[in-house]
Amino acid sequence: MHIMERAGGRNQTLIMEFILLGFGNPPELQPFLFLLFLVIYGLTMAGNILIVAVIVVDQHLHFPMYYLLGNLSWLETCYTSTLLPRLLASLLTGKRTISVKGCMVQMYFFGIMSTAESLLLMAMSYDRYLAICNPLRYTSMMNGRVCCQLVAGSWLSSMTTCSIGMILLLQMTFCDSKEIDHFFCDFSLMLQLACDETQTLELVIFAIATMWTFVPCLLTLTSYVCIISTILRIPSTTGRKKAFSTCSSHLIMLAIFYLTIITVYIVPTGITTKVLNKIFSVFYTVLTPLLNPIVYSLRSKEVNESLRKAFHKLSAFWNSHTILKHTF
Ligand SMILES: *[C@@H]1O[C@H](CO)[C@@H](O)[C@H](O)[C@H]1NC(C)=O
Repeated sequence: MHIMERAGGRNQTLIMEFILLGFGNPPELQPFLFLLFLVIYGLTMAGNILIVAVIVVDQHLHFPMYYLLGNLSWLETCYTSTLLPRLLASLLTGKRTISVKGCMVQMYFFGIMSTAESLLLMAMSYDRYLAICNPLRYTSMMNGRVCCQLVAGSWLSSMTTCSIGMILLLQMTFCDSKEIDHFFCDFSLMLQLACDETQTLELVIFAIATMWTFVPCLLTLTSYVCIISTILRIPSTTGRKKAFSTCSSHLIMLAIFYLTIITVYIVPTGITTKVLNKIFSVFYTVLTPLLNPIVYSLRSKEVNESLRKAFHKLSAFWNSHTILKHTF
């Protein structure tokens, strides 16, 4: 066993493993939660993969807006997959320990995905802003190449910044307690267990979080303010209603994503309880990836049309297949 000399002269055991407390103790709740999250995970994966497939296959959808939607759906499948499989496994087996390294890996990928998500949502709102508020310049300012740059930029900048945070985190040792009262390796809870001085790291992470969460959040909101004010000037009532309903559903999703993240990470602990914190975390980690494809893609007429065509083709193919089988 490793013994650690603390600054205060106290000897403490170095921790190699954490215990993720998850949703608390009652074992009779476990099967119910397992089924609930299994269904949510299945639906999230199915919905998002369906959208990626439709957008990749259908030539009619090869436009920047749909490229961005496809990339968002792809990102959502990765995002939920950083958390849910592990949660499901621990609900099923009752095993709640996770190695410190495992915890860091989970946190690293989760950090990359959530940062990329917030940057991609910003890119999507920028695309809509150009299309609605600047329609004459849209084609010159948004094309396949710009779209590629936006997507690549989101991934690269989230990977770079999270890697910097990770390098600092890898030097941490943990010794205060083994228990993390959450269902995934949450960064702020993990830092509370560190034996070393965490101020520098906290500052770096705070800067990263501000840069990649607050700034995209503000820019996204600004785009939507411009979009809504343009929509309000549309003379026809039906056109206005339609544009407004699309916009408001996007805004609701953005509000859920950002408000819950900000409540969990920025509002000082003590004001929000631990239970409330976990419930809010479920919102931005589990429900956003489930609802985003529905709100962004399935409400779009073109995607719906394309899905309908695909199902027709599939059922026609299926029918001809069964007929062939019967005739031979
Ligand atoms: C993601 O964006 C790139 C660049 O615009 C595009 O080529 C690609 O098809 C998109 N991916 C999906 C799944 O839509």
